[in-house]
Amino acid sequence: MSQAAGSIDDSLLFYQAFCVDCEPIRRAGVSELACYHPALPATPRNVNLAKLHTVFVCSSCGGDSPKWQGQCPECGAWNTLSQMTQPARPRPGPRVSRPAAAPRPLALVQGGPAGRTATGIEEFDRVLGGGLVAGSVILLGGDPGIGKSTLLLQAATGLSGQTAVLYAAGEESLDQIAMRADRLGLKAGRAQLIAETCVETIVEAARSSGARVVVIDSIQTMYTEALDASPGAVTQLRDATAALVRFAKESGAAVMLIGHVTREGTIAGPRVLEHMVDTVLYFESDNGSRFRIVRAVKNRFGAANEIGVFAMTEEGLKEVRNPSAMFLSRHPAPVAGSIVTVTREGTRPLLVEVQVLVDETPSTNPRRVAVGLDSGRMALLLAVIHRHAGVALHNYDVFANVVGGVRVSETAADLPAVLATLSSLRDRPLPTDLVAFGEVGLSGEIRPVPFGEERLREAAKHGFKRAVIAEANAPKRPIEGLEVLAVRRLPDALARYF
Ligand code: TYD
Ligand code: MG
Repeated sequence: MSQAAGSIDDSLLFYQAFCVDCEPIRRAGVSELACYHPALPATPRNVNLAKLHTVFVCSSCGGDSPKWQGQCPECGAWNTLSQMTQPARPRPGPRVSRPAAAPRPLALVQGGPAGRTATGIEEFDRVLGGGLVAGSVILLGGDPGIGKSTLLLQAATGLSGQTAVLYAAGEESLDQIAMRADRLGLKAGRAQLIAETCVETIVEAARSSGARVVVIDSIQTMYTEALDASPGAVTQLRDATAALVRFAKESGAAVMLIGHVTREGTIAGPRVLEHMVDTVLYFESDNGSRFRIVRAVKNRFGAANEIGVFAMTEEGLKEVRNPSAMFLSRHPAPVAGSIVTVTREGTRPLLVEVQVLVDETPSTNPRRVAVGLDSGRMALLLAVIHRHAGVALHNYDVFANVVGGVRVSETAADLPAVLATLSSLRDRPLPTDLVAFGEVGLSGEIRPVPFGEERLREAAKHGFKRAVIAEANAPKRPIEGLEVLAVRRLPDALARYF
């Protein structure tokens, strides 16, 4: 350690010192005013002095502004700026040690197959795009108690058989984790545990134990020594994550971060967290259901929107290997307002039931409620039904729901939603062995959706005998056991069933 002495006096107590090369930013106090860069001599040249200053940081995007404003100038959110004290950025000084990165021709850069390690949990590996990529950073968000710690403890133990793993617990004591591991039958795993919330200590422990996978439970409890703010503050979250990302990229270790979600369902903290990491996963579940879905909303190393399905049991999370028909509520007799559709989540087709209830109302302001479907899209479909099927629904409340807590964001659910609406209105059940998918256009045309044939095969595999789809989705060769009605316009589909 080299001491930057001589030029420093007591009046600097409220100042901070930076080494422009290694940036170990230390809190003021003359005795602590030191550069921790071992290679450099202690000269005033590599110590920058900067005053602590006040900034206003946005809790939504992490952007900062020198003065308070009602609206964040960067992301436009209202009432999100709060006051923080943070060190000024060090003035760029002369570069002494680190050579500047030189540009290289793309053709000469060795891409190679990214080293992937399987976690041993197939559904989790699928969401990751085929295993954990070395040097990647993954953020796993979800409601409290949904199973984030359980999943990552299981993954950590699975991985510890092949590689060194460090599990940093900021929320639970080591005893509590050991008890859980005992209950899950994971005690034999070789993962290293540490109960710590300081990022620098964790990184140091990871380096000295040669960990190739580091789990951080949770990022909201972590802090970096470089800042004064308390853990969970926006600046802490941002800088603690940045330190961990830097560690992952430098060392090639994979880092998995657990993140809490806010009441609105986004990961607590600035949106920049999502931009800083390679992969963002969300845990989803229907209230009270034991099924859990892990969805990749962003993945630099795999398909976005890919899902992994689990069931929470006494022995932790168990994989549901073949979930495609899991969300069907098989009715013994046909019921009005219900139809099955084939949606595609990530790389796999999923059969789900769409239900619509159309109910007469005296109100001049009828209700339109959609759960699991986009409500704007539902309103659009009701307008298409009015214009192109001549059915007015302004005297009716319309409630739409996708069974099992699944969210369908594809337009493939348009045609089934329209069919279920009319089925409920007319109180005429659709056949139970019928599936439908297709996008409905504003001029009443039925448009194709990707992977039509694959969806039809999945439906046939689960015993469905009839399908209504867009003409352009008609399979080239007939599919055994499936009678396909390929339609061009909405009235053609309706004429067949109503
Ligand atoms: P946990 O992983 O601690 O949730 P998170 O880290 O997302 O907050 O999961 C806790 C919940 O899971 C708790 O309500 C109990 C339940 N659970 C089981 O049902 N079975 C189990 O084997 C385990 C470990 C947890
Ligand atoms: Mg937890």
